[in-house]
Amino acid sequence: MTSFRRLLSAGLLSAAFLWSLPSHAGVAEGRKAFEANKCSGCHQVEGPAREKTIKDQMAKKGPELWYAGSKFKDGFLAKWLANPQPIRPFAYNSITERNRGDHPKLSQKDSSDVAAYLMGLKSREVKPLGLPAVDNPRGRIIFVKKQSCYGCHSARVRGKMAGGLTGPTFAGASERLNPDWVFAYLKNPKVFKPVKMMPVYAGILKESELKELASYVSSLN
Ligand code: HEC
Ligand code: HEC
Repeated sequence: MTSFRRLLSAGLLSAAFLWSLPSHAGVAEGRKAFEANKCSGCHQVEGPAREKTIKDQMAKKGPELWYAGSKFKDGFLAKWLANPQPIRPFAYNSITERNRGDHPKLSQKDSSDVAAYLMGLKSREVKPLGLPAVDNPRGRIIFVKKQSCYGCHSARVRGKMAGGLTGPTFAGASERLNPDWVFAYLKNPKVFKPVKMMPVYAGILKESELKELASYVSSLN
């Protein structure tokens, strides 16, 4: 066999192997279910971010999902899509109207297919650093005291919800957020959310502090 043919058959073999993996099988069906359920009417699945002005942001009906595979932890989407629980205390793009918790719900099968599809949407801006999701004193002090993260974000403290309501909650963040994405977002928020209400901390906090903060936030239950 020529080396080219050997390479080709190895390629075909690995392609056949990948195709047989269950998560891969759901991707095409997940994309179909995403369209069929009109998810794309509210969510952007192609990057980069398009919004430039407040008006563009206000026209968005839901958070962008074009980097979902970099943002979320494995297992989160399949569970959440079948039983969505409010993440943002207020309705999207609002700071007065409460989140009514009426997000469309998918069947178990559609949830895992759509999750497989969305988890394939990655951003090259999120480097796989393997940051740990751990409570750490420096991250906690920045979050609670040095910066006002806590003033806008809620978390569960000794079993009780506490903190501000303007930003997404971090209750359940340990099941939801990938620390590598949180770090990438804090370091370069413009890539993910060009029009935002949240202050920019890059340049105020050191890179090592942003990492500790990312680890801390992603450890919250
Ligand atoms: C009418 C607009 C609308 C439709 C239709 C819609 N969503 Fe959403 N979606 C939202 C809003 C608003 C949120 C924020 C909810 C929250 O924070 O609790 C959201 C949140 C999400 C999230 C979590 C994202 C994050 O960053 O926290 C995912 C994943 C998601 N939607 C997927 C879907 C899928 C899949 C469908 C199709 C079945 C769908 N959505 C249909 C508006 C919509
Ligand atoms: C003035 C209010 C405010 C402060 C202070 C604030 N945030 Fe935010 N944060 C937001 C809002 C609002 C969002 C939603 C995206 C947006 O509009 O920018 C957000 C989004 C986030 C997200 C993405 C969450 C998701 O699920 O999409 C992370 C992570 C985050 N903030 C971490 C922090 C950290 C860490 C600090 C402190 C260093 C902080 N925030 C301080 C308002 C705030």
